[in-house]
Amino acid sequence: MSVKNRIQKLHKILNQHNVSYYVYDNPTISDYEYDILLKELELLETQHPEFISANSPTQRVGGKSLSSFETIKHSIPMLSLANAMNQNELEAFDVQIKKFLNTNEKIEYIGEPKLDGLAVELVYTDGIFSYGSTRGDGHNGENITENLKTIKGIPLQFNSNNPPKILEIRGEVYIDHNDFKKLNKQRLQNNEKLFANPRNCAAGSLRQLDSKVTAKRPLKIFCYGLGLSNGIVFDNQKQFLDQLKKWGFPVNHHIQLGSGFDFLKEYYNQVEELRSNLLYDIDGVVFKVNSFYNQEILGNRSKSPRWAIAGKLKAQQAVTKVLNIDISVGRLGALTPVAKLDPVLVGGVIISNATLHNEDEVIKKDVRIGDYVLIQRAGDVIPEVVKVIQEKRNHNNVQFKMPNHCPICNGEVLRIQNEAEYKCQNKDCIAKIKGSIQHYVSKSCMNIDGLGEKIIAVLLKNNLISNFSDLYYLTINEISQLDRMGEKSAKNIISAIQNSKKSSLDKFINAIGINHIGQNASKKLSTHFNGKIDLLINSSRDELISINEIGDVMADSIISYFSDENNIKIINQCIDSGLEFHNLEINTQTSIFNKIFVFTGNLESMSRSEASQLIEKLGAKSSSSVSKKTNYVVAGKKSGSKLKKAKDLGIEILNESEFIKFINNINL
Ligand code: IVH
Repeated sequence: MSVKNRIQKLHKILNQHNVSYYVYDNPTISDYEYDILLKELELLETQHPEFISANSPTQRVGGKSLSSFETIKHSIPMLSLANAMNQNELEAFDVQIKKFLNTNEKIEYIGEPKLDGLAVELVYTDGIFSYGSTRGDGHNGENITENLKTIKGIPLQFNSNNPPKILEIRGEVYIDHNDFKKLNKQRLQNNEKLFANPRNCAAGSLRQLDSKVTAKRPLKIFCYGLGLSNGIVFDNQKQFLDQLKKWGFPVNHHIQLGSGFDFLKEYYNQVEELRSNLLYDIDGVVFKVNSFYNQEILGNRSKSPRWAIAGKLKAQQAVTKVLNIDISVGRLGALTPVAKLDPVLVGGVIISNATLHNEDEVIKKDVRIGDYVLIQRAGDVIPEVVKVIQEKRNHNNVQFKMPNHCPICNGEVLRIQNEAEYKCQNKDCIAKIKGSIQHYVSKSCMNIDGLGEKIIAVLLKNNLISNFSDLYYLTINEISQLDRMGEKSAKNIISAIQNSKKSSLDKFINAIGINHIGQNASKKLSTHFNGKIDLLINSSRDELISINEIGDVMADSIISYFSDENNIKIINQCIDSGLEFHNLEINTQTSIFNKIFVFTGNLESMSRSEASQLIEKLGAKSSSSVSKKTNYVVAGKKSGSKLKKAKDLGIEILNESEFIKFINNINL
């Protein structure tokens, strides 16, 4: 197959994967397979820049930084929607439509969730994404093409042999709740300002002048509207949305067709119930007259179309009183103020706590004990205080101040320069110890089942453990003697602890709780140090900084963690108890199982450690020196003596593109 054909084939496979993932929620290949194929494409494009096209899947990483956004005029204004605040207003909408269309027949409507994100317009010329913009004031938006290209759900070229000359698609960009939580957790670890809610986060991400920043944000899109089109005619919204899906655009799964006021009522109730189970925020439902012919007859008012209406859902907000501001102490000693609220029902859930994040947030919002506050919940995101209702403030309410001493251990509390958090300085603070053990056993760490917060607290109280390494030395006897603990539960706990001993180094690094080092950084460290904890412990600051995505703050934190003898002692106790790190899920069924690879010279599309990781996952091993036992030598640019030795020994030599093709052909 020629390079050009292979590149085209890779475009097709990768795009197909994006469609399966983002449109049908049904991935067909693993992230791992996707990455190898993307790497192959990157390499072919570096070697043959003449074949790089603007719609290649490699072009989603962000480009040059801009100094400002250009303005783009929408060819057809992006209007807003009139609101129906209750059922009567929905009924009035239906009556009005019938009157305008001069009919007594039931009107066919389409019901769609009203997504709470940012409206954007995507313009396709001959099926290729040419530019895109924000809604702006409805007439003029900002050119955010580079940022939109980083969103994997947006096709850079859509799936059609006969695309229309021009097609303008409108949709809502959003961030789902899980991704939002992950992102804020990461930001907290990195001492960055938290996003207040998924919508602000999506808005901030879309308006980045540096699209490389946008590329790192997990933005998604649902498409729902048609702007200008040339070369295709649709009869109705349903047909248009079905076609969008076939072309590979993500369309919301809860869209329904129906007719008459009964349908409007039914769909509204259905979505209201669905709301708390959705993984993204919605703030209403949208009803549109399905027929485009009728839409045309109905036309627009100055700001909104007559053929559509937004049914507002009940606010996920409520006003309640702050009974107290409690301080919780995290595993790293950070003090987090939490508003204890007079319990209130918000969107069907009783809320009695809301996070206040840190002192800056409390001061910014000036929340005081005794105040009435507006709180808001979104899906299962922790409820937050939106604002204080100033008119209801009692003048006796005093401004909040963080305590000088830890509320748990009375240790000294300090705010480190440039950090948003106050931290308890006492190493032996029981809240820290408990938090660090809870973190150690959690799912993304050592995944020890059955050790909940309560049991950990009891074990600590009975002096059976004082840090996470002690878990490995617990006995059935010790546990079964605790209050309300039978032999059976004790056995289960011990066996969960034993079973967790086979883990991977990245999980262990994450588990030991180095400040600023989360799941992602732990993976990078584990890969770089080839799964060897000793290499990490003895690494230098320079080496750490040389690792992609490990910055100064992280490197300093790692060095400081391992220079504490007590930490080393605890780690050694874990290892001595028999911890084993299987760093990658190794596939033993492949044709290269147990074969030995040596990588030499500079690889262009990946680092040597990434290359080792690829083959290790396929069951092979990598070695740094060539011998008779070596099966393959992968020679990058500037390969020297190892390549010569391999030739002398008659070992099979692969260049980089042969290597990538080779691993692509291995059946998983
Ligand atoms: S249709 C002229 N459909 O709501 C028709 N809008 O208030 C207007 N929105 O700016 C757009 N989900 O940001 C439409 N399924 C949906 C929507 C939706 C969310 C937003 C969109 C628009 C605003 C109008």
